[in-house]
Order: sequence, then C-alpha cells, then structure tokens
Amino acid sequence: MTKTAMTSHRLSPLSGEPGTLERVGLLEGDASPEEVVVAYHERTKHHFHRYAASLGYMDWATQPDPFRRYSGTDLVRLPLPKSGRPLPYWQLYAAAAVPPELLSIESVSLFLRYALSLTAWKRFQQTTWSLRANPSSGNRHPTEGYAVLPAIERLGDTPAVYHYAPKEHVLERRAVLDAKVWSEILAPFPDGSFLVGLSSVHWREAWKYGERAFRYCQHDVGHALATLRIAAAALGWRLVLLDGVADATIARLIGLSRSEDFGEAEREEPELLALIVAELSSSAVPRRLNEATVDGGGLLWQGTANTLSLEHGVEWPVIDEVARATRRCQSASITEDFSKFPTEEELFGTPVREGLLTAEKAILGRRSAVAMDGSTAISQAAFFRMLARLIPAPDGRSMPWDAVHWRPRIHLGLFVHRVDGLPPGLYTLLRDPEKVEPLRHAMRREFLWRRPPSCPRGLPLYLLKEGDYRALATSVSCGQDIAGDGAFSLGMLADYMDSLTTYGAAFYRNLFWEAGMVGQVLYLEAEEAGIRSTGIGCYFDDLMHEVFGISSREWQSLYHFTVGGPVGDSRLTTIAAYKLEEER
Ligand SMILES: Cc1cc2nc3c(=O)[nH]c(=O)nc-3n(C[C@H](O)[C@H](O)[C@H](O)COP(=O)(O)O)c2cc1C
Repeated sequence: MTKTAMTSHRLSPLSGEPGTLERVGLLEGDASPEEVVVAYHERTKHHFHRYAASLGYMDWATQPDPFRRYSGTDLVRLPLPKSGRPLPYWQLYAAAAVPPELLSIESVSLFLRYALSLTAWKRFQQTTWSLRANPSSGNRHPTEGYAVLPAIERLGDTPAVYHYAPKEHVLERRAVLDAKVWSEILAPFPDGSFLVGLSSVHWREAWKYGERAFRYCQHDVGHALATLRIAAAALGWRLVLLDGVADATIARLIGLSRSEDFGEAEREEPELLALIVAELSSSAVPRRLNEATVDGGGLLWQGTANTLSLEHGVEWPVIDEVARATRRCQSASITEDFSKFPTEEELFGTPVREGLLTAEKAILGRRSAVAMDGSTAISQAAFFRMLARLIPAPDGRSMPWDAVHWRPRIHLGLFVHRVDGLPPGLYTLLRDPEKVEPLRHAMRREFLWRRPPSCPRGLPLYLLKEGDYRALATSVSCGQDIAGDGAFSLGMLADYMDSLTTYGAAFYRNLFWEAGMVGQVLYLEAEEAGIRSTGIGCYFDDLMHEVFGISSREWQSLYHFTVGGPVGDSRLTTIAAYKLEEER
C-alpha cells in the first residue's frame, strides 16, 4: 500500500466552527500544531459510511511482537508477590488508610505487578495471548514502562534506569546512573521517591487500526497512568504526573533518544514522567523536574531494542505528524483551583467504608466484557458510587485524580438502560460542576437538565431526556452490541477546543489520558460492583455529537465505555499469568 496522501484541514482562526475549514497540506510546514491536531482529529473520525483509514484486514505476516526486550542488559528478576493480599478495595480511595510500604525489591515488584504486569493467558484452539493489568485497545499494548530507581538491596547497587518486561516480570537495566546525577534529579522531591516513564510504540496499534491508532495509544497511556496511580495507592504511596516535562527530556532520561540502541527497531514515543513518593506525607509534592539535571551525562547505557515486525508494509505518516505536533517542550505549570468541588460526603452521601473485593482481586481480576447480557440491572447506589469516583475532591487530592493537575476536561454523555429506579434515557455527568452552563448551551435546547431526586446532592448528574436508547447506543458505538446491552454506556465529551487554546496542542494527549483514567476507574468500579465493563474506541464521533445536539467543534467525544452484566466465553481456557515462569 502506498503512503497516504498528506492533505488535511486548516482552521482559521481556531474558532471551532466546522464551516471555517479549508484544505491544506500538513507536511508543507505552514500549519500550527493546534491546526495539525484538529485536522488529525477530524480525519480520524469514524463516520457511518466511512471509517478512518486503516488497512482493513490483519496482515499477520507483519504482526508486531507485543513484548519489547533490550538484549544485552543485566536482568533483575522480580520476586513474584504472593497472591491474597487482604487490603480492601475501598481503602484505595480512603486518604491515608494504607500505611506506606518501604521501598524494596518486593514493593517495587508488587507495584509493577499491580500496574503493568500480565494477569492471565488465554487460549483458544492453537492461539494463546496474554492479558495485562492495564487494558489496551485491541489488546495491542503499545505502552512501554520504565522506572528510574535508587540503589535498592538485591535490585541494584547504584541508581539505574530500567525497562519493565511484563512477560517475565523482570527489569532490564538500561543504564547505570551516577549517584551525584541521581541526587540532583531527586533533589526537589521527598526521600524515597522514584520515577516512572511511559512511552508508546505507535506501530503496534497502527498495525491494526491505521490512522486512528494515535488516539488509542493515548487512551492506553491514560489507562496505564491510572493503573500506576492505583498500584501506588495499594502500597500507601503517592504518584504525581510531573508537570510540563519536555518529551526530549523524558527521551534522554529513559534512553528513547539513543538511536544507536534502536537501529532498525521500532522507536518509542516519549509520553510522560511520573513521580512516586514511597512515604506518607501530607505536604504537597512538587511537580516540577529540574530538567537541567537530565542532560544525558552520568548515564552508562547498555542493551539493544528488539525489532517488533520484520517489515511494516504500510506506514501511517499522519501519526508521525500528530505526534510531532503534540510533543511537549518544557512548559509552565498548570495550577488550578479545586476548592468549589464537592466534598466526599456531598458526593457519596455516606462515604464508602466497605465493599465486595480486595484491591488485589479488583486490580488483577479486571477484565473487559466481550459481550453483555442485555438483562442485568444495577442499583442506583452502585451507579451513583461509580460516577462519584470520577469527581476530584475539593483539595484535588482524591485518588486517582491527585495524579493530575488540571481540572477535569472530560464529561460524560450517558445512555442509561437499566439502573433500578432511574428512568432510562440520556443523562450527563459534569466532572467539573462549573461546566453546567457551557454544556447546557452546547446541547439540545429541549433537554430537561433535571437532577434525579435520589442522587447525592454533590453529584453533578442530570437527566436530559427519558427514553429507550439501547439501539441508538449500539449504533453510536459502531454497531457494537455491548453498548446497548450493558446497564449503561457513555461517551466522554471533552472540552476540546478550549483545552487546545488554553494549554496548547500537546494537551490533546492529556485529554485522552484523562479519558483513559476515567475508563480505568470504571473498569475497577464495575469489578467491585460484581459486573464488568469495556472500553470502546470504535464509535461514530459525529453521530454521538448529534445525539446530544452538539453541533460546534468545541466539544468532542473522545472515548466510549459500557458497564453491565457480562457474558463469558466458555470456549476460552485461562492460564495463570506467571505459571510457566513459576515452574521455571
Ligand atoms: C482504548 C480502548 C479501546 C477499546 N475499544 C474496544 C472496542 O471498541 N470494542 C471492544 O469490544 N473492546 C474494546 N476495548 C477492550 C480491549 O479489547 C481489551 O481491553 C483488550 O482486549 C484487553 O483485554 P482486557 O481488558 O480484558 O485486559 C478497548 C480497550 C481500550 C483500552
């Protein structure tokens, strides 16, 4: 297949009005990064009669290896944590309820087990595939994880940069760090801190999904950011996304800029750097890295990246373009006020202090439903609790929203099918209570904007229109029955144009990260409620907008989700994640 023609659209100015588009060539270098983003987003919409460009079939000969490895590195085999940790799931969300674990090889192992490890192998006839704690669109797993750790007994005598290899649950030591450089990097942060970096291999996702794959890579980063935050909470640790770190700095620190170590192998796009604080502290954690300390000096590198596909056959240059347009240069901190957000009591009525599962069961047992039963209803209490988990606390500190520093930019357009005592219909959850007026203005005039009488008074949930929306929910999600057969499904409405104009093009990625985090909370909440959920990346963008009456480009649906009673697939055999490793 030939390279795709590089034409797209320019917005002049960034008005958000679809009518102001004209065609331009993005490669000509005359488009602003925000214009490239908008053009990419428009171009990768699925329409009822035209899906975003992709190969349209699976080219099995070029299927990418889901596991990156660096040959020639020292391996640190992480002790597989014993299963059955009794921490209740609800305690993940109760501030300071979990005493912090000391930083050790065991606690690092548990952290990575909960965040990024394999959780099962599945087998059907001759085919076997693995699943992980972090979900991924089409199970492609484009996200790679790195840790920058201090010297830790039995893990390493010096600070070092590691790549995490989930198949074997091992760390590959990519670089040894000069102790002085490490202490300079960590100087602003509390003792017992370390860093985690995430990157994306676009090709893994593009192989299946073509041009829309960049969006999915970003969703997956958001899911992984949430699994990291939740894993940290299970250990009593905090995690914050470092603010405004240049992608070039991340690439230097975790070795992604080292062409000599990649050769012909697929490169990784730097995404984010997070700080983990392995101690209890009520004081605010600084979110800025002193980037001058990461100048590439003081690091002794080893290892060569494996090639994931012997050939590619097709390239998707728009992905490279949007990646370039959304790369972050060092940027100013975002400081926002959360003081008007509802308190725990206002959100939940009675704060949740009991539940069904242990944290471990929810985290390692999480699965996507491949089909929904079309009959399970959930209680209002369960529905309200799931939604309440999606709203940050007034001090911005509720888990996992304490990991990010911007006010919510993702709101929900809900299709409620079966919630006991609630009329089925269209609803909206405004994750930032101050967005009522802008969204009311953007949506259909005839919507009711009525608060369900039984809803906790701090939960910004509104009934918009009663009705049976099961068939429409299915249609909107590319005809996938899971969206109509769940208890409810939803589209995540992003405050899109305002985010791009306020924070710049790089924030396009953050919007998807936030959407992925919302999804991850819903995944775990569904487990805790005894049901299941599934992320939905395939949906008809503008059909969703039309249902809610959104005609301006200001608001865009960035991710869909369904929650309900799952139907299992008895043809599949499940094998324990590390059974083979254990036997070895
Ligand atoms: C961003 C994203 C988009 C997804 N889109 C769909 C979808 O459109 N339809 C679907 O059935 N599953 C979808 N999934 C579910 C994945 O197929 C699932 O996460 C993957 O197969 C791994 O399985 P697991 O979630 O049980 O670990 C999506 C998941 C993610 C994270």
